Amino acid sequence: MNEPLVIIRDLRLQFRTYAGIVHALNGIDLEIYEQDVLGLVGETGCGKSMTGLCILGLVPRGGEIVSGSIGFRGEDLLTKPESYMQQVRGAKIAMVFQDPSTSLNPLFTIGQQIETVMKRHQQADKTQMHERALELLKVVELPDPARIMDTYPHELSGGMKQRASIAIALSCGADLLIADEPTTDLDVTVQAQILDLLRRLREAQGVAILMITHDLAVVAETCQRVAVLYAGQVVESGPVDEVLYEAKHPYTRALLEASPKRSSRGKTLQAIPGTVPSGLRPLEGCAFSPRCPRAMEVCAQPPPRVAVTPAHAVYCYLYADSEE
Ligand SMILES: Nc1ncnc2c1ncn2[C@@H]1O[C@H](COP(=O)(O)OP(=O)(O)OP(=O)(O)O)[C@@H](O)[C@H]1O
Ligand SMILES: [Mg+2]
Repeated sequence: MNEPLVIIRDLRLQFRTYAGIVHALNGIDLEIYEQDVLGLVGETGCGKSMTGLCILGLVPRGGEIVSGSIGFRGEDLLTKPESYMQQVRGAKIAMVFQDPSTSLNPLFTIGQQIETVMKRHQQADKTQMHERALELLKVVELPDPARIMDTYPHELSGGMKQRASIAIALSCGADLLIADEPTTDLDVTVQAQILDLLRRLREAQGVAILMITHDLAVVAETCQRVAVLYAGQVVESGPVDEVLYEAKHPYTRALLEASPKRSSRGKTLQAIPGTVPSGLRPLEGCAFSPRCPRAMEVCAQPPPRVAVTPAHAVYCYLYADSEE
């Protein structure tokens, strides 16, 4: 496999709240390769969105990155000033959100919005920008792109709005697209179409995608690699075929058992006994051990990283002996 585009090491994010310090990310380690579709999966609150926002330099108010690095093409984004990150956002790394209405401006046409992003990052004349915008609307398979250019967001269906927001995200030729639950609000058929589009964009546009989802079926359909998050840590990562079909971590196995066979609207992961830690206490040992059917005494210590295969890693004492 080629060199990673993004290398995240020991990323820790905390929030100051009235209840105390919330430990949101507790040492995330991740790689995203060029033209990779990496799924980031886990239950609500495990830190999927925060990981995406940290990459973009958009930590919400009250949050502070207390350690770690985010390497992007060899540069540590965490050491860069906001002015640098403004250039990165949109031009190199773009984001697609769950609800396209939040990223589309209701007051401007789709064409104007694509051109605004282009103007911010590229030097091109009006005709070139117009043509490129039309081309992008074709890329995202919107019917009648010339007409769509002049429509306002409220005139489009949910699926069309999401296609338009993907076109805007792609408008500067970003190398990485962070898609945070991009299909959760759409109905099943449209969901499948958007996932299919994202898959093809990776091939056609050569863009890497970080696909944030709580739905393992989405991961199975769209991603090449997956990282399973629990309480702000990666517990298992590797190629989708290995992680989903030969899951090692008890949490990954529990997620798979709790997951509906087919993704369908309204169904969420459920039925793993116990609750996710609140984040108000720093993690000492394995965060999953209080819910783990196979927990041992040693799990009170931080779990080791065990390489199941060269590309498949699990953070768990159950496999520690198999390590060479
Ligand atoms: N504004 C905030 N103030 C305090 N804590 C926060 C804040 N935003 C996020 N957190 C903490 O960060 C953790 C991770 O949140 P994040 O939004 O990344 O979860 P997620 O995996 O995206 O969940 P979901 O599937 O519900 O979108 C939360 O559990 C919470 O503890
Ligand atoms: Mg989220």
